[in-house]
Amino acid sequence: MKEIDWSNLSFGYMRTDYNVRCYYRDGKWGEIEVSSEETINVHMAATCLHYGQEAFEGLKAFRCKDGKIRVFRMKDNAERLQSSCRGILMPELPTELFCEMVKKVIKLNERFIPPYESGASLYIRPLLIGTGAQVGVRPASEYLFVIFVSPVGPYFKGGFSTNPYVIIREFDRAAPLGTGTFKVGGNYAASLRANKMAHDLGYSCEFYLDAKEKKYMDECGAANFFGIKNNTYITPLSSSILPSITNRSLMQLAEDMGLKVERRPVPEEELATFEEAGACGTAAVISPIQRIDDLENKKSYVISKDGKPGPISTKLYNKLRAIQYGDEPDVHGWVTVID
Ligand code: PLP
Ligand code: COI
Repeated sequence: MKEIDWSNLSFGYMRTDYNVRCYYRDGKWGEIEVSSEETINVHMAATCLHYGQEAFEGLKAFRCKDGKIRVFRMKDNAERLQSSCRGILMPELPTELFCEMVKKVIKLNERFIPPYESGASLYIRPLLIGTGAQVGVRPASEYLFVIFVSPVGPYFKGGFSTNPYVIIREFDRAAPLGTGTFKVGGNYAASLRANKMAHDLGYSCEFYLDAKEKKYMDECGAANFFGIKNNTYITPLSSSILPSITNRSLMQLAEDMGLKVERRPVPEEELATFEEAGACGTAAVISPIQRIDDLENKKSYVISKDGKPGPISTKLYNKLRAIQYGDEPDVHGWVTVID
């Protein structure tokens, strides 16, 4: 194997040795299969290709200082996938099967887990697709669940440093009663144009406002949003955002640190009052926000006056990473040691 430059990995795909698969046929899940193929053979009329019957997950495993491998909040990812399944009428994958397959794929690809010192991790991508053929708009009767892994570095260039963001009013990612709370491919297809617009304008990522009133902060690309002021952690309550497991963890850690936590609609104007703000998700952990521009309204909300991550975001980031790498006790039972 060519040497991997662990410290300079980006967030991307790298071929590893194995993936694991499980098929749903005749109303039941089959045996776990191990594959070294990167491709899948799919019927041309499969519902995932035509009608978006597709859901995925994203979680990480870490090589720790004590030499052990830890995976973060695997059960919560299993449960969110089940919620996505209910959302687009796919059969729910049992939590035990999900966890068994995650553990298996990590062990099979152990040599791809970045070393502790690199600060990189193993990204785990579970994917569930409708494989049964349908021409009418109906759910498939056959499905494939597959998990692959890839060693990854930071999602945003520069890792834990501040970046500029932009509110894109021209596009919505998800409707109030749509599929925004599910991790399904269609939401990401809907985000591609806004995301390209933001990048073309030199921003790190796009922000969405609530689709109905265009008044409240929703999500930021493929990450949740939080703001901090007056010793309070504030994050949007919305029916069109993905319930981020990272955000949920940060809310708990904020509470543990003695901050107040508020989940409520966040009006755009409130951005002017935040002392710190960040985008959060598995991939980025926390990406601190330098400023958020609203080009159409000719407004720029500068959040980090000195261009540096704020003290509370930094503390939250360090705390979460320390738990993930096993450097601090896992008091909330978020971590599974893989042996
Ligand atoms: N929001 C969207 C739309 C996402 O795709 C993700 C990534 O998974 C998140 C938020 C963050 O969620 P999590 O913290 O569970 O990774
Ligand atoms: C995340 O893990 O936070 C993501 O947004 C993953 C993304 C590549 C869909």
